[in-house]
Amino acid sequence: MTHDAKTEPAVLGAPHRTKRPRKPQIKAVKDEPNSIDMRLEIPDILDAFPFYVMLVDENHYILQANSAVRAQLGVAPEDIIGKYCPTVIHGRDKPIDACPLEEAAKTNQAVEQEIFDAVSGRWVRSAIYPTRGLTADGGRIFFHMISDITDRKQADEQLRTSREQLRALSLYLESVREEERTNLAREIHDELGSLLTGLKIDLSWLAKKTSREQELTLAKIKSMYELIDEAIQTVKRISTELRPGVLDDLGLSAAIEWAGQEFEKRTEIKLEFTSGPKDIILDGDRSTAIFRIFQEALTNIVRHANATKVRISLKQDGDRVILRIRDNGKGIDKKQLSDPKAFGLIGMRERAMSKGGDVKISGTPGGGTTIIVSIPLKNMENLNAEDTNCR
Ligand SMILES: Nc1ncnc2c1ncn2[C@@H]1O[C@H](COP(=O)(O)OP(=O)(O)OP(=O)(O)O)[C@@H](O)[C@H]1O
Ligand SMILES: [Mg+2]
Repeated sequence: MTHDAKTEPAVLGAPHRTKRPRKPQIKAVKDEPNSIDMRLEIPDILDAFPFYVMLVDENHYILQANSAVRAQLGVAPEDIIGKYCPTVIHGRDKPIDACPLEEAAKTNQAVEQEIFDAVSGRWVRSAIYPTRGLTADGGRIFFHMISDITDRKQADEQLRTSREQLRALSLYLESVREEERTNLAREIHDELGSLLTGLKIDLSWLAKKTSREQELTLAKIKSMYELIDEAIQTVKRISTELRPGVLDDLGLSAAIEWAGQEFEKRTEIKLEFTSGPKDIILDGDRSTAIFRIFQEALTNIVRHANATKVRISLKQDGDRVILRIRDNGKGIDKKQLSDPKAFGLIGMRERAMSKGGDVKISGTPGGGTTIIVSIPLKNMENLNAEDTNCR
């Protein structure tokens, strides 16, 4: 005898077809060596679970249920045996769309799902495992476990939300920092720079007015002149380090080339740079993100790589801009890559992610480290008139 779920829904009170007398299921043979004298019946096994479990047939009829249904469904296990499972659990006369039994019956494989039950407003983990057992009339028997995972889901959700908030906060702080650096760089450059230039002009005036006989005064003026020149260079360096003007004036490619030359001057490491095409159009935010990733990569090379050569390429590949940085140093290892405290690397990934891109970092022991940054170019339709001066 088989049940048709569609034509025979919710057979409340129908006699149970497969309920069998409680027979010992595991019984050791007394005289065998190492045997355990154990008598265990199916209900005993099912009752060991803290959440509710059932045996069901492929037509969704309940064959056995454990005592946990009392607490979780508010019914006695013996009252639901023989009843139609979707009715008992979901109050429906047909299986819910995500019912795992449908798939398990079709494939005869285990099916595990996390389902949101709209009626109770709770999340359940519903799993079906095919058994080798058969009902008296030859139907297949499935082991069905349902556990309430609402608390875990809510905790997951809270964790996800707080991660997103942290990410948004860190990006916000980063953008504020970038804005402050830009303003500070501009002010230092413009205000201090012009004051020092003014001072230099005044000093040349003073030098012209001083007679050649006043040698000591002239020598003092000369040394002041040199100090002011030094101060002008320092102002330039500080403001450039805060925010390289070349990034805003000439674009990403020129800024990377310039930073590379500066890097070569400061270190013993040789740098090779290739780029193309010349007119990669990127908005200011994207250029800044890539440039800051590049700076972190160079800093890491100086601090950790022990490299003698760095190859850099900046290319446009379809609708993405790709920056590759490859050094010939000792090579980053897997542990360092997944270190949760590697904030430099995390920052690189976060910056790229915030622009819809990603960063791939790989290393081979003694064979160097390669960093590939891939970021989509800004949507061309978003490139309005205001954006046309962005590079
Ligand atoms: N190019 C590289 N070659 C070899 N090892 C590297 C390279 N870049 C990074 N590493 C390793 O990965 C680790 C993590 O780098 P990350 O930039 O996150 O941190 P950091 O440079 O040590 O500190 P900071 O937070 O100041 O950046 C480094 O400590 C270093 O061991
Ligand atoms: Mg670092």
